[in-house]
Amino acid sequence: MKRVLIIGAGGVGRVVTHKCALNPDTFSDIWLASRTLRKCEQIAKEVREKTACSIHTAAVDADNVPELVALINRVKPFMIINVALPYQDLTIMDACLETGVHYLDTANYEPLDEAKFEYSWQWAYRQRFEEAGLMALLGSGFDPGVTNVFSAYMQKHHFDTMDYVDILDCNGGDHGYAFATNFNPEINIREVTSNGRYFENGAWIETKPMQFKKEFNFEQVGVKNMYLLYHEEMESLTVNLKGVKRMRFWMTFGDAYLKHLEVFRNIGLDSIEPIEFQGQQIIPIQFLTALLPDPASLGPRTTGKTNIGVIVKGTKDNQPVSRYIYNICDHQACFKETNAQGVSYTTGVPAMIGAMMMIKGHWMKPGVYNIEEFDPDPFMTALNEQGLPWTDIETDIDVDAL
Ligand SMILES: NC(=O)c1ccc[n+]([C@@H]2O[C@H](COP(=O)([O-])OP(=O)(O)OC[C@H]3O[C@@H](n4cnc5c(N)ncnc54)[C@H](OP(=O)(O)O)[C@@H]3O)[C@@H](O)[C@H]2O)c1
Repeated sequence: MKRVLIIGAGGVGRVVTHKCALNPDTFSDIWLASRTLRKCEQIAKEVREKTACSIHTAAVDADNVPELVALINRVKPFMIINVALPYQDLTIMDACLETGVHYLDTANYEPLDEAKFEYSWQWAYRQRFEEAGLMALLGSGFDPGVTNVFSAYMQKHHFDTMDYVDILDCNGGDHGYAFATNFNPEINIREVTSNGRYFENGAWIETKPMQFKKEFNFEQVGVKNMYLLYHEEMESLTVNLKGVKRMRFWMTFGDAYLKHLEVFRNIGLDSIEPIEFQGQQIIPIQFLTALLPDPASLGPRTTGKTNIGVIVKGTKDNQPVSRYIYNICDHQACFKETNAQGVSYTTGVPAMIGAMMMIKGHWMKPGVYNIEEFDPDPFMTALNEQGLPWTDIETDIDVDAL
């Protein structure tokens, strides 16, 4: 049993806090800190009502290393679960090194002034974490996160060669707004308006945003249009899975969502370049974020399901094999359990499980690691036990033929 410090009181932070409280045999003591203390206190109140567990709260600006260090020295946690924004990853890793505390996150570092996310900045911390005897687990959400573990599980149990890997992310949820994003709008819009990219024969092939589209019939959701995107788990999976010939990532979007994005782009509302407005500098995408519904408020009104999984074609004992592992998650069931919608839930539960793997010692070695570098089996077992059960089947679905 260990003490944890969760940083970030948004939609994902709400789920992580609830799920840690539901596992008192692993998490002896739970602290939640964020920029806005009121949000931590609100979550603590909800958790107390649902689980009778008391959460400690604190305010912290996670962009400020000395402030983080002071908080960590006061709390003395075993590890930090970072579910603030990707902009804070490096400051929190710096503070962990300074205080001798383990680290976990769900999204890779992204500089505030450049719409670019990649692991290089965090991988550069490997030697320092190793030398300090500390572990950093990167990308312990759903995608990245569970999709990486699904892939590692397939490699361990089903394939000698994993030739063609397709990751399929469908959110069939409906929140009733004309436009809203299921997680932080700024991060979400930056991700989906960027050029796409996929991996083939050892090289990355760049695509225009939404250039490739396919229809897919997702179990318990129905037929949806899915679009090829670049997604961060591909960067580490193409390094850590051996011999992959091609890897692609697909995400579903409705026509209304895409129309809104097109308008935002046409009028520059998704820009990260500062503009002058009534005597002050504003950043258009931050202004847009302020106008949009807070993702943490979507929980009560979101219905429908998510269906996220991985389809792999390859070989076992020189025979062709095709398999599909996926999870289906119901938005309203997530809300009932944790007061949050499915996208926060499918991210927050794996973040808690990653921490559980480290605390229980299933995954613990000094250095900086992506989640597929560890034995997938205990994590897969915990997914079934903690609310994200998965299905693992042979499939005749041929994504290329769709
Ligand atoms: N891997 C996956 O599958 C996956 C999926 C979805 C999201 N994510 C990641 O999960 C993280 C959280 O997402 P979310 O939807 O919960 O976002 P969110 O609702 O916007 O919450 C982010 C929280 O971080 C806090 N925060 C921001 N800057 C901070 C700072 N400088 N210091 C302290 N706290 C700060 C905010 O604080 P205040 O509100 O207190 O000001 C906010 O409550 C993001 O990094 C996102 O990219 C991963």
